Amino acid sequence: MHPMLTNAVKAARLAGTIINRASQDVGSIKVHSKNYNDFVSEVDHAAERAIIETLQALYPDHGFIGEESGHDRVDAEHVWIIDPLDGTTNFLHGFEQYSVSIALMSRGQLEQAVVFDPSRNDLFTATRGRGAFLNDKRIRVSNRAKLQSSMIGTGFPFRDFKHLDTYLGMFKDMIKNTAGLRRPGSAALDLAYVAAGWFDGFWEIGLSKWDIAAGALLVQEAGGIVGDFEGNETWIDTGNIVAGNPKVFAQMLQVLAPHLTDELKSKYQAVISE
Ligand code: IPD
Ligand code: CA
Ligand code: CA
Repeated sequence: MHPMLTNAVKAARLAGTIINRASQDVGSIKVHSKNYNDFVSEVDHAAERAIIETLQALYPDHGFIGEESGHDRVDAEHVWIIDPLDGTTNFLHGFEQYSVSIALMSRGQLEQAVVFDPSRNDLFTATRGRGAFLNDKRIRVSNRAKLQSSMIGTGFPFRDFKHLDTYLGMFKDMIKNTAGLRRPGSAALDLAYVAAGWFDGFWEIGLSKWDIAAGALLVQEAGGIVGDFEGNETWIDTGNIVAGNPKVFAQMLQVLAPHLTDELKSKYQAVISE
């Protein structure tokens, strides 16, 4: 294993221990609401602190983008992108579907990825150019050829409803054109499941970098494709993301195409970043 990945795994397992311990008694966890339907607990904070302290001690020159602690030295050559607990709502309800997500971006390119599911002890890892793994076993995206027989993961809008009607239009067409949709509630794990071939594809609107950075590299290293709703590269900045095996990915874009508002098209991102 690449040494940087080994250290990211160490940090993810440390966070996982904090999460597992707290999951024994979710009722006593202190929670506060960041925004409407956006909850953060002392566990999210403690897990992120453990990850950053571990990596910072080893790599004092590296930058960090953490969901709970914000940005630090993001112009550094190496930047860690961290979601200490992806699926907080599930966690707080005792619904065991959540993960720790850690990615390393070096000179603008995703290089290392860890998505750790602490309740199942499932460790998904990838290093650019070296493939994707689940607990040391190589994983690959599915080879299902038809969207109609595919199982697709997604995430519903639940905090910001500006794209809700658009999403529901996409949802309706996806229901009609697939074998089934699932909404487990941790985008990082959803992407890991695409990498493992358990989902044939995944899409969601408006995710954050920390939700998708690690999972996207897992998908790419497992032979899948990641893009925005037009198949382009803006997904890491917009969080408008589609992922899948190459055949299903192309068919998902076709289903989504009639629903794209200007804001969900790749060129919108180019215009607002000018
Ligand atoms: C959320 C989860 C969820 C997705 C949301 C994310 P959080 O992350 O990934 O599946 O639908 O959009 O924000 O807030 O639990 O870290
Ligand atoms: Ca998240
Ligand atoms: Ca989170």
